[in-house]
Amino acid sequence: MTRALTALSLAVAGAACRPVPAAEFGRQLFNDPRFAESRFNDYSCAICHSVSDAEAEKAYPGHTLYGAAARPSFWGGYQTRLIDAVSFCYVYFMRGPGPLDPDDPKSKALYEYLASLGPAEGAPALPYTVVRDAAGVARGDPARGAQIYDAACRACHGEAHTGGGRLTLEAPVLPEHTADYEHVFHGVAPAVVVVEKVRHGQFFGVGGNMPPFGREMLSDEDLGALLAFFRL
Ligand code: HEC
Ligand code: HEC
Repeated sequence: MTRALTALSLAVAGAACRPVPAAEFGRQLFNDPRFAESRFNDYSCAICHSVSDAEAEKAYPGHTLYGAAARPSFWGGYQTRLIDAVSFCYVYFMRGPGPLDPDDPKSKALYEYLASLGPAEGAPALPYTVVRDAAGVARGDPARGAQIYDAACRACHGEAHTGGGRLTLEAPVLPEHTADYEHVFHGVAPAVVVVEKVRHGQFFGVGGNMPPFGREMLSDEDLGALLAFFRL
């Protein structure tokens, strides 16, 4: 009995002491909204970024992070340090308490995970174009728009018309939410309001934590199809 107990406690102690490899800890952080330490945050990094080098079926607002650790610059050349690129997402989208500290074990683990994903060198910087003008976009095919919705919007907003399965209650039901735009935004076509939101995230400079979709993530054609699907 005593021997069995001793063996058990040794096994438990062994399990507790065995360190999780840093890259594995980083992978867990990447997939966990609690990483940002804000109870108002529902996003994990994985909501907005793939980690694969294959073409994704989902239209993520951020680039794949496959090879990201080896890129010379980020955010379309705006950031030159990986930690600054990540900190921006951490603070502005995930409501993290402040920029990541490079010496923090969590930052290091996240780095090990990102570095483990792709080629160690030779990864090119990826283009990222913020569309400035939220003006008219030619309408496209609504059936294609439904596919775009599923690929680009559903992860957060849930199913169209019901919001079923949405990630966060903050994300409104689409397109029903746009029904009162004519009253709320006098003189601005509701479609333009949606384009502004999708292109800039924090729309009209007001706020929110929806990520913007750059031109490389969503083309004007995709957006036009989406508007037709929304009947806007
Ligand atoms: C709500 C969506 C969102 C979340 C959550 C998010 N990001 Fe981002 N991230 C973006 C967008 C949008 C960009 C700008 C487009 C781009 O350059 O990939 C970006 C850019 C980046 C870049 C620069 C990529 C490049 O080559 O330009 C890195 C690296 C990055 N994010 C890492 C992370 C990590 C790590 C996390 C989790 C701690 C995270 N992001 C969370 C949306 C998000
Ligand atoms: C990463 C999660 C996420 C994705 C992906 C996303 N949204 Fe959102 N969206 C939100 C959240 C959260 C809000 C509420 C907070 C805010 O306004 O930023 C929101 C708000 C909105 C609003 C309402 C703005 C207002 O206040 O009236 C519209 C319109 C919208 N999203 C459209 C879209 C469309 C279209 C797509 C797909 C192209 C999309 N969103 C993709 C998270 C997301």
